[in-house]
Amino acid sequence: MTIQQTELLYLPPDLKPELLPRHVAIIMDGNGRWAKQRGLHRIKGHEAGAKQVKDLVRCCVQWGIETLTVYAFSTENWNRPLREVNSLMALMRRFLREELREMHEKNIKIRFMGDLTKLPQSLQREISHSTLLTCDNTGLNFYIATNYGGRQEILQACQAIAGRVQTGDLKADQISQELFESHLYTSGISDPDLLIRTSGEMRLSNFLLWQMAYGEIYIADTLWPDFDRGQFHLALLAYQQRERRFGAV
Ligand code: FPP
Repeated sequence: MTIQQTELLYLPPDLKPELLPRHVAIIMDGNGRWAKQRGLHRIKGHEAGAKQVKDLVRCCVQWGIETLTVYAFSTENWNRPLREVNSLMALMRRFLREELREMHEKNIKIRFMGDLTKLPQSLQREISHSTLLTCDNTGLNFYIATNYGGRQEILQACQAIAGRVQTGDLKADQISQELFESHLYTSGISDPDLLIRTSGEMRLSNFLLWQMAYGEIYIADTLWPDFDRGQFHLALLAYQQRERRFGAV
């Protein structure tokens, strides 16, 4: 039995492996409220949220999910107090340092999406190291959206394509959906089948605007630090009951 077959034994029996979403994306909302309810500083909520990310990554490996994308920091999150922004950057750096070895052993391929050039140098170094180390891994694709914005992603794709048209490398009528998608951060991976947003808010918040054209959305009332495997299981059960028509009848 291969390692992956052994891991799949963990899949709860009421989930059908053939109906699992290939790509799950998550808007991890509610860390601040979780901390406030406990009289703690917001950053404690983010720390508790990071622990939940770690467990969900393990769970996705065990249950046979192909791709997991988490929204860790949006282009709008720079508007938060400097202390919170700095703490989030430090938390991500620590997460990579502490979890990289285990993730590599579990054959996880770590990738980032977003404008990484604006991140602190020390985090950029950690990102380069983790993506390079795991680039040949063939297990779970784990995407961390950092300084990511859907509109900014679409704009930079337009600019890159316009540049190619300007130099004569490409004609305007050669711009197809496939060509456009090849200029997005998600080039080469399937669109999310399921987007989970925690804490009851019903918004996309600039996340994967192009890619979510036909993705199913699941809203959990739970705050992110409380979104455990049991909650994930409920989201997958709900997804398996959906009828996906992709615009057809
Ligand atoms: C939204 O909750 C959450 C964020 C902006 C940060 C998410 C970051 C983590 C879960 C930890 C770091 C990530 C990784 C991958 C290690 P909020 O602060 O807006 O919550 P609120 O709406 O209750 O205030």
